[in-house]
This record gives sequence, structure tokens and C-alpha cells, in this order.
Amino acid sequence: MSDPVPAPPPGYTGAAWLPRHVAIIMDGNGRWAERRGRPRLEGHAYGAQSVREIVTACRELDSIKALTLYAFSVQNWGRPDEEVEHLMGLLLDYLVEEKSTIMDNGIRLQAIGQIDRLPAKVLGQLRYLEELSKANRDMTLTLALSYGGREEIVLACQRVAARVLAGELAVEAIDESEIEKHLYTHDLPPVDLLIRTSGEMRISNFLLWQVAYAEIVVTDVLWPDFRRPELYASLEQYKGRQRRYGLTGAQVTPPSTGS
Ligand code: FPP
Repeated sequence: MSDPVPAPPPGYTGAAWLPRHVAIIMDGNGRWAERRGRPRLEGHAYGAQSVREIVTACRELDSIKALTLYAFSVQNWGRPDEEVEHLMGLLLDYLVEEKSTIMDNGIRLQAIGQIDRLPAKVLGQLRYLEELSKANRDMTLTLALSYGGREEIVLACQRVAARVLAGELAVEAIDESEIEKHLYTHDLPPVDLLIRTSGEMRISNFLLWQVAYAEIVVTDVLWPDFRRPELYASLEQYKGRQRRYGLTGAQVTPPSTGS
């Protein structure tokens, strides 16, 4: 018999304090396997199981409206061919096997990054599921694939420059919202919570613009071991944070005046 699914802690489901947008750097698959004397590829396969569980768990909480997963960076193309092929295979399996979970749970799936570099089969299934799920509104699952944060900002700059050259935009009119319009994530809320597994204190070229005011939780847990309890522990840390956006603590939480 399989273990019972851990329920969210009391008061979590539908809570207003929950982050609207959670982004995750899924790290540590290789080390997870190496610690067990297993090939790295096995770590990725278990990591794909974590993806399945965390997507469902976030959706169950209801208030999380966007989940963005760093599944493959532009720089990851430089890994050994066998590893890249294995990751692409896992991705394809995920897109095929999770279709009903995505549709039954009102999840809109999209991918961001240099998507055209993906193998034709993966790209085809991705485009199919993006189209099929595009009207879903309960949560947006964004897979960052062949993604780089600097590359995304360069692309946005090129698009803004093209508008200036076409006479559609004055240089003085370039502001944050103009840049944001041209980012892959233009229709997502800002990232509230960035989680990184495996203890590394790095951003690794992920959502550089979007994490400007995100709360960051780094856990030593390796991604294949990151399941519901670890998600709830990260959310509990987030719950205790005071978000200040450059203001003072007193400004964002004025002292209570009593009754
Ligand atoms: C980082 O671990 C992880 C990746 C580069 C790939 C993430 C992929 C998955 C979780 C599985 C497939 C994805 C989906 C969406 C089904 P690492 O290999 O860098 O680990 P290490 O730092 O311990 O070597």
C-alpha cells in the first residue's frame, strides 16, 4: 500500500497569505543519485516524480496561481548528450502522461525560453498542451525550458529597441512596464517566493528581473526528496517573512492602536 498523501497544514488551503507566484530552482538530482551510487539519470527520473507531486500540491492550495519550474537552462545544453536526451525524454513523458492532471485541475501550461531549440517531438507535445490548456484559469504552470534570465532580458531589450526604431515609442517612454511587456512572463504576477533545493545559494540565471522582491527559501533537501512536506515547510518560512519592498518594518506593519 502506498503512503497516505500528507494533507496541507490547517489554514493553508485558500489562505490569503500564500504566495500567488512560486518559482522553484529544482537542484540536486545528480547528487541524489550519486549518494546512492546510482547513475545521475536516475536522479532526474525521481526529480520528475517530485515535479508531479509539487504541481498537484500547489494547485490543491488554491491560492497559488502561478508555479514556475526551472527545468532546463540554456546552459544545460552543454551537458553530456546522454543526459540531455534523458531529460528531454522525461519532459516528453511528463507532457504526455500529465495531460489529464493538467486539464482536470484547471491548469494552464506554458513554456518559456528558447523553446524552438527543443527536439521536434517535445516541441509538438508542448505546443499541443499549451493550446489545449490555454483557457484554464486556476493555476498557470510555467516550465522554463532552454531558459536563461539574461537571454530573456536581452530579447526584451531588442523588442523595445525595435519599437523605438519603428517610431512607436519614445526613448523617454521606456519604463519598467514597457520592459515587462516584452518578457516571457508578461502575463504572470511577480514572483513572491523563490525556492531553491540542494542548499546552493545561487540564482543561476533564473527569472533575474522577476525575483526583484521575491522572498528566497533555500533548503538543503535535494529535489528528488522535495515533496509535499518540504513544500509546506518552505511555505511556513514564507509565512513568517515581512515583505518590505524597500520600506521600513514600521511602515509595512504599523503598530496596533488597540481598541
Ligand atoms: C538540476 O539538478 C536539475 C536539472 C538540470 C533538471 C531538472 C529536471 C527535472 C526535475 C526532471 C524533468 C523535468 C520535468 C518538468 C518533468 P542537477 O543535475 O544539476 O543536480 P546536481 O547539482 O546534484 O548535479
